[in-house]
Amino acid sequence: MAETLFTGISQLVTPAPGPQRGPAMRELTVVPDAALLVRDGLVSWVGPRRDAPAAAHLHDFGSVAVVPGLTDPHTHAVWAGDRLADFEARVEGVPYETILARGGGIRSTMRATAAADEAELVQLALPRLRALAVSGATTIEVKSGYGLDFGAEIRMLRAVRALQPIISVTLVATLLIHVPPQTGRTDYVQSVCGELIPQVAREGLAEAVDVFCEREAFGVDETRAILAAARQHGLAVKLHADQFHAVGGTELACEVGALSVDHLEASGEAQVAALASSSTIATVLPGVTLHLGLPAAPARKLVDAGACVAVGTDLNPGSSPLFSAGLALALAVRLCGLTPAEALTAATANAAAALGLNDRGALVPGQRADFLALHSADWRDLAYALGANPVRDVWVGGQHFKE
Ligand code: NIG
Ligand code: FE
Repeated sequence: MAETLFTGISQLVTPAPGPQRGPAMRELTVVPDAALLVRDGLVSWVGPRRDAPAAAHLHDFGSVAVVPGLTDPHTHAVWAGDRLADFEARVEGVPYETILARGGGIRSTMRATAAADEAELVQLALPRLRALAVSGATTIEVKSGYGLDFGAEIRMLRAVRALQPIISVTLVATLLIHVPPQTGRTDYVQSVCGELIPQVAREGLAEAVDVFCEREAFGVDETRAILAAARQHGLAVKLHADQFHAVGGTELACEVGALSVDHLEASGEAQVAALASSSTIATVLPGVTLHLGLPAAPARKLVDAGACVAVGTDLNPGSSPLFSAGLALALAVRLCGLTPAEALTAATANAAAALGLNDRGALVPGQRADFLALHSADWRDLAYALGANPVRDVWVGGQHFKE
């Protein structure tokens, strides 16, 4: 039996396990001068150092804060090509949606990604995933969605599967139905429902299906049909909604019991109210707010109304080149109005729940031993530091993560 007692923990800080809503997001447990016992990859005991049980192995951190490993519940970490010309155009005033409508933006990444083989996609994604892991992400969701055709979508998902044995953090794959073809969208939606989703489910290539529900992407009726097909094939569902316009995606996500609805920059009172009375997690993506210079999602209002809020990087080349889950947490405080405690819960227990995972995100007995030792004795440095990594060591299933 592998058993290690971790000591030298100035503060062990954790939310309660499972999704936390509204004011419960602020209720952290803080154990000063703590110890953490890990047995066979799981937390088996947590408490004050003086009460700690004996263990076969000891690991002393010195005197630093320990928090749960972060979950990044929303990335598009597999892509080829770049969006540097788009970036310059946007900085000079051309809107993101205009670039997309002209056939650039996401569509240009689709062309480059469709031209890459699986091995190239793996090589391109690996350093991005490592950067996220070093920033504190011990679980990372990765979406497809840059496939120009179904073959390229499947290749992206196979790349995620090929990456899992190479990196010890948990990867969770999602099939993203991103933008419709410029002609023949009705047939496309039918084939997504009748061919792509059944194949992905049959081959076990994704846990969930996500749809970009937006004026420049899929409408509510198309989205509903795709989500229904996902459900029929035993896949969970989630949505990109209210990024630019609140066209009804959030209401649909709540109605069908989606795991999460992500973005929400354009959400208003009605969408906040829908999320507050739903178990669907509201995932905010402050990297998009920073990079596109758009309004932030109303995370403060969502928490005050009683919703479960999560935070993610949305790592992608077009709207959020944010390679740090820790920085997403810190930006959620600056840009979305969360308190440091709410942001920690959003990035741990709630982010895991946004992937349907209730076995991680809190440091209590029985949970996975995914945790972070910070550089600082005060956990709040995780939400405070900008530009230097406040995470010293990352532990995944009780094992030290090495790049
Ligand atoms: O989550 N909004 C849609 N999809 C991505 C952006 C993808 C891209 O620009 O390449 C997002 O922001
Ligand atoms: Fe996204």
